[in-house]
Amino acid sequence: MSTLRESTPDGGRVGGPALSVRDLQKKRNGGKPIVMSTAYDALFARMLDEADVDVLLVGDSLGMVVQGREDTVGVTLEDVIYHCRCVARGRKRAHLVADMPFMSYQVSEAQALQNAARLVQEGHAQSVKLEGGREMAPTVSRLVNAGIAVMGHVGLHPQKVHQLGGFRVQGKTEESARAVVQDAVALEQAGAYALVIEAVPQDVAQAVHRAVQIPVIGIGAGPHCDGQVLVCYDLLGLNPSRAPKFVRAFGELFTSGVNAARQYAQAVRTRAFPEAVHCYGKGEGKDASAQDAATKGANVVTLEPPTIHSRHRDVPSEGEVKRRDQVFG
Ligand code: KIV
Repeated sequence: MSTLRESTPDGGRVGGPALSVRDLQKKRNGGKPIVMSTAYDALFARMLDEADVDVLLVGDSLGMVVQGREDTVGVTLEDVIYHCRCVARGRKRAHLVADMPFMSYQVSEAQALQNAARLVQEGHAQSVKLEGGREMAPTVSRLVNAGIAVMGHVGLHPQKVHQLGGFRVQGKTEESARAVVQDAVALEQAGAYALVIEAVPQDVAQAVHRAVQIPVIGIGAGPHCDGQVLVCYDLLGLNPSRAPKFVRAFGELFTSGVNAARQYAQAVRTRAFPEAVHCYGKGEGKDASAQDAATKGANVVTLEPPTIHSRHRDVPSEGEVKRRDQVFG
């Protein structure tokens, strides 16, 4: 069976496997916005994939939103590999990018290459992302020459939080704005296939977009980009912490989660849960009577002990055992 699928001129897919870096470039060329979100586990990956999100990033932001850290610097390569494998199991169409965590690529080009390869081979990422500007260009080229697709990350580098003295907007002066553009150009020349640009004034992102031909995906960088990326918990309204100015929550999942959990707690405390419909029968025929009673709205079902009619009944067939033991009835 062929695994080749058709690609539309603007980088869309007719069925098919995950979007490739070429599909993302086609989106830029065709003026189609790229939708990117972080994801950290299989279920969220599936949810975002079903919503046709184009790119899933296993971001080192997992340190903050999943692990509850203050910043991303403590995240390890093993952490990212673990979450990447989870996301890889949940997504179908979205392109999968893995973040290279702090100090997994800065030590040497060889270290970067080994670790990027692990993200691709063990994490099943299609590409890797690393933070940095011109200083990272040789590393990017090394990875690209080895066949690894690299997404750059310019503007704010959250991994430099301690050096910067906080998560600070970048490119606010003429000089630093020019530096952001130079970083972007250097990364493109080194072979990066796309860039994330974070927390810069919108005209700086616009200048970057004009200066490079590869897709530029903004976060806190305004509308003049080829796409946008947000942390999934932020866009879903699942993160109760104070959000940066650039975040828009498109849902209220934290509030609905608290409400659902409250209702659950109340149901357990008042013994309203579990009901008959949530219980397994014991012995032949009892499952059915429990189901019947439950659908008729009965709250309590008394199950009699199983009747053993003969020795023969002591040894149920394999099929019967399987049916009785089904958890998803
Ligand atoms: O780690 C992350 O989630 C990121 C995105 C927010 C771009 O780098």
